[in-house]
Amino acid sequence: MHRKTIVAANWKMNGDVSLINEMTDALNTISISENQQVIICPPAPYLGALTQANTNARVAVGAQNINEQLKGALTGEVSALMLKDLSVQYVIVGHSERRSLFAETSGLVADKAKQALAQGLTPIVCIGESEDEREQGQTEQVLSEQLAPVLSALDNDELTDVVFAYEPVWAIGTGKTASAEMAQQTHRFIREFIAATDSDAADKVAILYGGSVNAGNYQELFAQPDIDGGLIGGASLKVEEFKTICLAE
Ligand code: PGA
Repeated sequence: MHRKTIVAANWKMNGDVSLINEMTDALNTISISENQQVIICPPAPYLGALTQANTNARVAVGAQNINEQLKGALTGEVSALMLKDLSVQYVIVGHSERRSLFAETSGLVADKAKQALAQGLTPIVCIGESEDEREQGQTEQVLSEQLAPVLSALDNDELTDVVFAYEPVWAIGTGKTASAEMAQQTHRFIREFIAATDSDAADKVAILYGGSVNAGNYQELFAQPDIDGGLIGGASLKVEEFKTICLAE
């Protein structure tokens, strides 16, 4: 099964209008093949500017979060319906910063993924263990507990429309990357866990690696059979470096 390579930029609370213009211009200078998908996830206030600046059919726009409700008295929140209205195609849900700093549970992440799919958006569902959990041999248990509510909330035909991102918390923004071998082993586990619900979907679903991916390590990581690309934080703010990573096949 040859899956697309997806390179997704998570700008977090960084970037501005000039980065949007520089990035969209730079991505227009490279040839992104049919088998690749680039996604840029800027902060919410910049989604409209990015959808307007982006003229590249191989570059999609994504958000970093949604509320699980569609509308209402929820000051400061953004709904899947609004993203759809802006032609946003993807939304990150359950990033470890949302889980740890904003107390998002795996149940809430499942509700967000479900709502995204209901509005025709592709959720990028993030999962990952902390350093302590890895050291205590709990990685697979933690990932299972994060995945289970999502898998049970979705119908099997929805599952193929989800992108998963495995991001070990200890590798995010730290410069420490999981070795390609360790990442592959964990991605294999995730795919097998999904296969227990739906083996066909498990074959098709993209599982991205995230955590200190950069121009120096992306090739080895993306070459692993169960790694279908990356969710990139720090390196996605550097135009030249991100452009290089986008050329990954
Ligand atoms: P990083 O962030 O590439 O800066 O480690 C990745 C992420 O948090 O998605």
